[in-house]
Amino acid sequence: VRPERCVVAVDGPSGSGKSTVSRRLATAIDGVYLDTGAMYRAITWSVLQSGVDLADTDSVVKVAMETDLSIGTDPLAPHFEANGVDVDAAIRGPEVTGAVSAVAAIPQVRTMLVQFQQEIISAASRIVVEGRDIATVVAPDADLKVYLTASAAARAQRRSAEDATDVAATQADLARRDRLDSTRTVDPLRQAVDATELDTTGMGIDEVVNRLLDMLNSKVSS
Ligand code: DC
Repeated sequence: VRPERCVVAVDGPSGSGKSTVSRRLATAIDGVYLDTGAMYRAITWSVLQSGVDLADTDSVVKVAMETDLSIGTDPLAPHFEANGVDVDAAIRGPEVTGAVSAVAAIPQVRTMLVQFQQEIISAASRIVVEGRDIATVVAPDADLKVYLTASAAARAQRRSAEDATDVAATQADLARRDRLDSTRTVDPLRQAVDATELDTTGMGIDEVVNRLLDMLNSKVSS
């Protein structure tokens, strides 16, 4: 599959396999990849660096607005900078992971990042975008919308294998973040009515990527 132009929206909770699958899919269609979660993480990193109180929404918004974000979209090596600093490692650390749901719940932060995401999408020919609200808010006209899920146990297993953390602690933290991400008032995590749900529990990466390529093939050729 190598359509002239296409936007693929991949949503789902943490650990559903979104990132790995999205990067592989982007590579397969010779497209670019946008990790919107990493954008929320980079802004959160900047907020933590600034030392402002997370509960002080006005100050958090101000720091977010003033942060100079550089967003890499190479699916083989997505690289992010905030205010000129390489944040690729820091945005995966426990401090950012612990604070990101709170920052992502602020409406002004979302408005700013959604607009930025839409600009990146418009400029791309073929793009795979992963997040929580891509099919519902960011790219409602996407050519393919997938909602990836997996059992809580499978998701915790994958995440803890990635960060070498304890499975039980990871499962508890995922549950905490899912709750925050799905119950916030602005753009909560939810499946778009026209998204195809794919439960990846027990599926290998190749299998998932091939399924999505088949779906995309039938969408863009129909
Ligand atoms: O996918 P991730 O774990 O890197 O996402 C980090 C956080 O950002 C997660 O708590 C949910 C939030 N997020 C969001 O609110 N909207 C998105 N489009 C992507 C991520």
